[in-house]
Amino acid sequence: MKMKEVQPVNKAIELVTKATEEDKNKNYEEALRCYEHGVEYFLHAIKYEATSDKAKDSIRSKCVQYLDRAEKLKQYLKKKEGKKPVKEGGKSSDKNSDDKSSDEDEDPDKKKFQSQLQEGIVMESPNVKWEDVAGLDKAKDSLKEAVILPVKFPHLFTGKRKPWKGILLFGPPGTGKSFLAKAVATEANNSTFFTVSSSNLVSKWLGESEKLVKNLFLMAREHKPSIIFIDEVDALCSSRSDNESESARRIKTEFLVQMQGVGNDNEGVLVLGATNIPWALDSAIRRRFEKRIYIPLPEAPARSHMFDLHLGTTPHSLTDKDIKELGMRTEGYSGADISIVVRDALMQPVRKVQNATHFRRVRGPSRDNPDVMVDDLLTPCSPGAPGAIEMTWIDVPGDKLLEPIVSMSDMLMSLSNTKPTINDDDLKRLQAFADDFGVEG
Ligand SMILES: Nc1ncnc2c1ncn2[C@@H]1O[C@H](COP(=O)(O)OP(=O)(O)OP(=O)(O)O)[C@@H](O)[C@H]1O
Ligand SMILES: [Mg+2]
Repeated sequence: MKMKEVQPVNKAIELVTKATEEDKNKNYEEALRCYEHGVEYFLHAIKYEATSDKAKDSIRSKCVQYLDRAEKLKQYLKKKEGKKPVKEGGKSSDKNSDDKSSDEDEDPDKKKFQSQLQEGIVMESPNVKWEDVAGLDKAKDSLKEAVILPVKFPHLFTGKRKPWKGILLFGPPGTGKSFLAKAVATEANNSTFFTVSSSNLVSKWLGESEKLVKNLFLMAREHKPSIIFIDEVDALCSSRSDNESESARRIKTEFLVQMQGVGNDNEGVLVLGATNIPWALDSAIRRRFEKRIYIPLPEAPARSHMFDLHLGTTPHSLTDKDIKELGMRTEGYSGADISIVVRDALMQPVRKVQNATHFRRVRGPSRDNPDVMVDDLLTPCSPGAPGAIEMTWIDVPGDKLLEPIVSMSDMLMSLSNTKPTINDDDLKRLQAFADDFGVEG
C-alpha cells in the first residue's frame, strides 16, 4: 500500500491542537486561523481518508465544536476590531499596488470570498492516476472525453460539438466516485481543479453561502479551463421541499443560475458532481448535469485488480490464482470494502508478531544490508515448531525481526470478518435511477 506523505487527518489534529493552545494563550487571531484551517483538513480527511461512518461521524462532531469556538472568536475579534481605528484596510493597501485598491473598494466582498474560497477549496493535486482506478472504463472514457480532449484539442470542440458542462457520478457508497474525481484532478493537469464538498459550502460559519457559490464560479471562469468538483452534491441541491431552510433554497437557486444562467458563459468550466443518493437531487439540477454516469459495484475482474492495487508493494505470498479467487469471492463488495479487507489482512503479520509466544531463528536478509544473509533473525512460530524459543516480541531486538509475509489465509480470515456494506434496496433504487436517467460507467 502506498503511504501518503502527510495525512490530512494528522495535519488537522496538529492544527487544532495548536489552535487550542493559542486559544489558551489568548492569541485569538492565530487560534481562529488554526481552527478554521484544521477544520478544512478534517473535511478533506472525511472525504478522502476516513473509511468508516463512525470515524466520519466523530470527525464531524469535533468539527462542529471547533466551528462553534471559531465563531465565538470571530465575533470577539470583530468587536475588538471595531474599537480599534487601525484595521485590515491598512494591511491590504501596502500589499497591493495603488491601482488595485480602487477595485477593492468596488467589490470588497469578492476579495473576501475569494480568500475564503481559496482556503476552503482544496486545489492541491492528489496524485491518483487513471491506472489506480480499477474497472470503470466507461466512466473513465467519458471523463477523458469531457476533461482532457477539449483542452488538448480545442479545435475538435468548435461549432455544435460542445464538451460536456456537467457530469454527475452516482452509485453506491465506496465505489470510487470521489476517487475517480481525484484521478481527474491529477490527470487534467492543464485545468484548474476546484474541489468543494457541500459541507464546506453549507458550513454555517461561512454564512452567506450563495455568494460563495457565485464566487466559486467566478473564480472558475477566471482560471479556465477549470473543473469544479462538488462531492456529495445531494446535500447542496436536494429537491425543494416546504421545510427547507431559506439559505438552502438560496444556495440552490444560485447554483442553478450559475450553472446555466443568462449572461454566464461557462465555456471551459466543467462541473463534476458526485452523490450516492441521486434521486434526492432537485430535478432542475439534475437536468444541468447533462451526463449522468452510473458507477456500479465492481465486477469480479475489477475486484481482483483492486486486491492487487491495494496490496501494492507489500511482500506477500499470494499467487495470481489466489487474487483471482479473491475477486470471485467478493460479490457485492465495494471498492472501499475491499480496501478495508486488504488493510486488515496487511495487519495480520503485525498481529502475529504481537501475539506470538514463541519465536524461532531463521535465515534472511540483514536489515542494514539486504544483500547480506544472516542466520539470527527471529520469526513467530507455534510452540511445537522445531527450534521454538519461548519469548515475546519485547525480547526481540529491533533489527532482528523477520515478520511473516501476508498470505492467502490472512486474506481469507479478513474477508470472513468484513461484510459488504451496501444493501440490496439501495442497489435496486440506484439501478432504477440509472435505467431512468443515467448511462452505465
Ligand atoms: N475503482 C476503484 N479502484 C481502486 N480503488 C477504489 C475503487 N473504488 C473504490 N476504491 C477505494 O475505496 C475508497 C473509497 O472510495 P471513494 O471515496 O471514491 O468512494 P465514493 O464512491 O466516493 O463513496 P461515497 O459515495 O460514500 O462518497 C478509495 O479511497 C479507494 O481506496
Ligand atoms: Mg465520495
